[in-house]
Amino acid sequence: MIEKTLAIIKPDAIKKNVIGEIISMITKAGFKIHGMKYTKINKEQAGSFYEVHKERQFYSDLVDYMSSGPIVPIALEKENAIEDFRKLIGSTDPAQADEGTVRKLYGTSKSNNAIHGSDSVENGINEIGFFFSKSEIEKCRM
Ligand code: CMP
Repeated sequence: MIEKTLAIIKPDAIKKNVIGEIISMITKAGFKIHGMKYTKINKEQAGSFYEVHKERQFYSDLVDYMSSGPIVPIALEKENAIEDFRKLIGSTDPAQADEGTVRKLYGTSKSNNAIHGSDSVENGINEIGFFFSKSEIEKCRM
């Protein structure tokens, strides 16, 4: 089944200047890009995006971090996108991530882990909607 997932290249990866390397890994793995922007979110937006984690002890640091610098949200589509993207990026903790994954290559800690990927089909659709309007996605559809 064709699924949608949202990737976010995080501030630590932007600082490392590896946007191109990460996008190359994503497209080489067969994902199609349907939306992409270089942007920055404020604390309120980061808090809302990660609301599911609001009871977690790391929530406030996560919100501060994700609003601390530019990010690159990317709307992606592929057969089995959710599972395949999570395999491509590796475990949340870069130290535990498999060799060759994005987080192993470019992440440094659980919070500075280079990239986000949606964890379910439903969240993939909702998270894409957080950053991209339907008309933005439709306008660029090939
Ligand atoms: P992400 O895929 O963006 O989804 C939620 C984020 O919370 C996760 O990546 C991590 O960056 C962060 N996170 C998860 N667990 C922890 C933790 N134990 N400590 C700090 N940050 C965490």
